Amino acid sequence: MSEQLTIALSKGRIFKETLPLLAHAGIEAVDDPETSRKLILDTNHDDVKLVIIRASDVPTYVQYGAADLGVAGKDVLMEHGGAGLYEPLDLRIARCRLMVAGHGPWSEQAQRLRIATKYVNCAREYFAKQGMQVEIIKLYGSMELAPLVGLSDLIVDVVDTGNTLKANGLMPLESIADISSRLVVNKASMKRKHTRVQSFIDQIAEAVRQQEDAA
Ligand code: ATP
Ligand code: PRP
Repeated sequence: MSEQLTIALSKGRIFKETLPLLAHAGIEAVDDPETSRKLILDTNHDDVKLVIIRASDVPTYVQYGAADLGVAGKDVLMEHGGAGLYEPLDLRIARCRLMVAGHGPWSEQAQRLRIATKYVNCAREYFAKQGMQVEIIKLYGSMELAPLVGLSDLIVDVVDTGNTLKANGLMPLESIADISSRLVVNKASMKRKHTRVQSFIDQIAEAVRQQEDAA
């Protein structure tokens, strides 16, 4: 039997947008993570499994080799740092921007500005580069609420259509980075299973090219 490949994915948009790319490589999930309670999903290949985890946990599973490969947003990868990971391919899916947002442009204040975000490292680095000392408040979701209830002055979050900001009376202020999802590979898997992993990467790269051409 050939070598086992374990691929880490998160439910929701990453799973949905990765499926067509996997299909191009001949891989189809047997179960649907939206309806199944299973965390390890079989595929039509006995030697390929999908592990379903939180988006922000994907780099950790791949870094430690619990998964050979994974799909993670650049926002998540920037926040995690690159240790133990190769990032060979931009999948060009789940595209958005990491932004600073708030009620309106900020001004210098006597007190330090408070920034609510789940991207604490990215936010700290961004404001440090602007020469601003800020107080970072770690949240796990619904960042847009923080300025509405006085928890923070600003937020750092991903923005796509801008609808969530608008619905909450906020506006995008500064762009930190363009975001898309990336294929990440465990460094040891890349060595030990090189032929298998490289041919998988090549097939996915071809699928990305075809999707781009069709768009
Ligand atoms: P976690 O469960 O770890 O908190 P999450 O809820 O942010 O993660 P998703 O909402 O599935 O997970 O987002 C996965 C990735 O998709 C993000 O890391 C980001 O790169 C991208 N993304 C998030 N929101 C959007 C959006 N509105 N439009 C396009 N891409 C997005
Ligand atoms: C993400 C993000 C924003 C929203 C931005 O949330 O946290 O709230 O998308 O997208 P928009 O600019 O198109 O409105 P998501 O919808 O993934 O919900 P979540 O908070 O459960 O991650």
